[in-house]
Amino acid sequence: MEQSLILVKPDAMERGLAGTIIARLEGQGFKLVAMKMLRMDRLLAERHYDVHRDKPFFKGLVEFITSGPIVAAVFEGENAVSGLRKAMGSTDPAKAAKGTIRGDFGQNIERNVIHGSDSVETAEKEIRLFFSGAEIFSY
Ligand code: RTP
Ligand code: MG
Repeated sequence: MEQSLILVKPDAMERGLAGTIIARLEGQGFKLVAMKMLRMDRLLAERHYDVHRDKPFFKGLVEFITSGPIVAAVFEGENAVSGLRKAMGSTDPAKAAKGTIRGDFGQNIERNVIHGSDSVETAEKEIRLFFSGAEIFSY
């Protein structure tokens, strides 16, 4: 069964949206198999967003994602990676459809409330950055 990493970003935490976001994804049939609250340090943020290292927004992105606590979670389901991306909506909340998490709660492209892995391969890598095998449950 496919698994994907979700992060509830610091903007959503500040606004008290963690429970709402997790509940929405559960409600859409994704199974919660791991979850923790943490504050990412610079090294973890740079590893997680390594693919964006050369982009002009990289520094700001790392600063933002390390600016406060987040909730990291692993959801499981059939085609979970693409299904969760669909539930999240487009990167830019202004372009995200109503009914998607970013469309309903995102403020701008930087403060877009949620991260989700963008491929099965990326998901496997990202999950390993945040969770040990013993922290991921089968039930
Ligand atoms: P994420 O990785 O956070 O799930 O978002 P995503 O796949 O939809 O978008 P991605 O291209 O991976 O970009 C990662 C994050 O970088 C910020 N970003 N800022 N200022 C900009 O032009 C810009 N472009 C991207 C966004 O916050 C995005 O979530
Ligand atoms: Mg991405």
